[in-house]
Amino acid sequence: MIIAIDGPAASGKGTLARRLANHYGLKHLDTGSLYRAAALTILNAGGDPADEGLAIEAAEQLEFNRFDDDDLRTPGVGDAASIVAAMPRVREIMLRRQRAFAGGPPGAVLDGRDIGTIVCPDADVKLFVTASVDVRARRRYDEALERGQAVQFEEVLDDLKRRDERDTTRAVAPLRPAADAHLLDTSELDIETAFQAAVKLIDGETQTGCDR
Ligand code: DC
Repeated sequence: MIIAIDGPAASGKGTLARRLANHYGLKHLDTGSLYRAAALTILNAGGDPADEGLAIEAAEQLEFNRFDDDDLRTPGVGDAASIVAAMPRVREIMLRRQRAFAGGPPGAVLDGRDIGTIVCPDADVKLFVTASVDVRARRRYDEALERGQAVQFEEVLDDLKRRDERDTTRAVAPLRPAADAHLLDTSELDIETAFQAAVKLIDGETQTGCDR
C-alpha cells in the first residue's frame, strides 16, 4: 500500500505520516528532508542555493540520512530548500529517488508537496493536510523554542508565507491537492485527533480496517 500525504510546511503532515507508517507497518519517507539535505550541503560549502549547478550537484551526490534532524530543520535551511526545490532538474533527480524508495515492499507513506500529483499519482490513498498559516507558524515557533533555537514569531510567520508562495506558484510540481485527495484541516485538531481522522479515511478507502 502507498499512502501519499501532501500539504504546506508545518501542517502536521510529517508527524501524521510517521504515525501512519507505524500503524500500517509501512516505510516512511519525509521527502522535504531530501530538498533540505541538498540545500544544507550547499550552505555548508558556503554556496548560494539559487545556483542551479551547485543544486544539481548536491542532489546527485546526496547521501540519505547524512545530516542531523536539528540541522535540517532550521528556517534558513527550509527557505533554501524551497529555492532548490523549484529547479526542474533537481526535482527530476529527487523523483527517481522517491520512486525507488516507494517501490519496494511492504509499501510506504511519503509526505511532501507533490506526492499525490507527481511522485505517486497511483497511490492507494492521498491526503492533503492543511492548517491556517497562523496555526502553522505557532507550531514551528514552539518547535524551534523546544530545540533551543532563538527565533521571533513574526520571522517564522513571514518565512512560512514566503515558502507557501514559492511552493504553490512554482512552474514545476507546485503544491496543490490531487483531484482525488482527501482534505484534512488540522487547524483545530491535535495530533491524536488528526491521526484518528486519517485512519478512518484510509480504512474507508482501502477497506483494510479492523471494523470492516
Ligand atoms: O516539508 P519541508 O518543510 O521539510 O520541505 C522543505 C521544502 O522542500 C519545501 O519548502 C518545498 C520543498 N519540497 C518540495 O518541493 N517537494 C516535496 N515533495 C517536499 C518538499
